[in-house]
Amino acid sequence: MDLDEAIRQRRSIRKYKADVPIPREDIETIIQAGCWAPSSTNIQPWRFIVVEDRKTIDRMAKAVYDKFQALSKEALRKGEKRVAAFFRFLRSYTSFFTDAPLVIVACTKPYENPVLKMPMATVIEKANKFQHMDVNIKPLVIDTVQKSVAMAVQNMLLKAHSMGYGSCVMDGPIAIEGRLREMLNIEDDLELVMVIPLGVPESTDVEAPERMPVVEVIRYHQP
Ligand SMILES: Cc1cc2nc3c(=O)[nH]c(=O)nc-3n(C[C@H](O)[C@H](O)[C@H](O)COP(=O)(O)O)c2cc1C
Repeated sequence: MDLDEAIRQRRSIRKYKADVPIPREDIETIIQAGCWAPSSTNIQPWRFIVVEDRKTIDRMAKAVYDKFQALSKEALRKGEKRVAAFFRFLRSYTSFFTDAPLVIVACTKPYENPVLKMPMATVIEKANKFQHMDVNIKPLVIDTVQKSVAMAVQNMLLKAHSMGYGSCVMDGPIAIEGRLREMLNIEDDLELVMVIPLGVPESTDVEAPERMPVVEVIRYHQP
């Protein structure tokens, strides 16, 4: 598939053919595309938990739906009608993946620089002594792992699309990170970043949400 076609035609798919499974070979091809993404100092901090079990996927979706349902009720009880409506919207925005044959939870390991050979918490502590020199190393050593995972996930979405699969990148379910950790037995050192349902789309006739014109998102710096 032509790159421009893949970039423009990929859509967030929210309805899947539940009874069409994804072969492991295809799952691994998609994850391989993710692994070719750039990452800070090539640390490749991404880890992917693949959930194929129907019951587990249902439990994940139900847990997140129920959480936003409870939050909506609580917001109403406190007289916060708009917040309650937002939480009601989030019920399905975060849980529609119940019919997906597969869900991938994209995680990150903390950044450990192979050269430094010390935990990043220690590096930050030491770097703080240089704050008077007007530098912020947090984006380089803390946030950098999530950025790397996001880049891997974008590769995966494009690859999945080129193979005829639908997907949707979601951070909504991360709201119940603790429950997901428990359900999927996720290692303590992994941080959950995104949830990606995958499957054959129920329909490919999904309208593309409008994009802002380039002139609105670009600014040439005038020295
Ligand atoms: C970081 C991130 C988080 C997202 N989280 C969700 C989500 O929780 N639920 C959902 O339905 N879509 C989610 N989306 C998908 C966006 O709604 C979607 O990409 C956007 O509306 C543009 O549509 P398109 O992907 O079809 O081009 C997320 C997208 C990104 C990049």
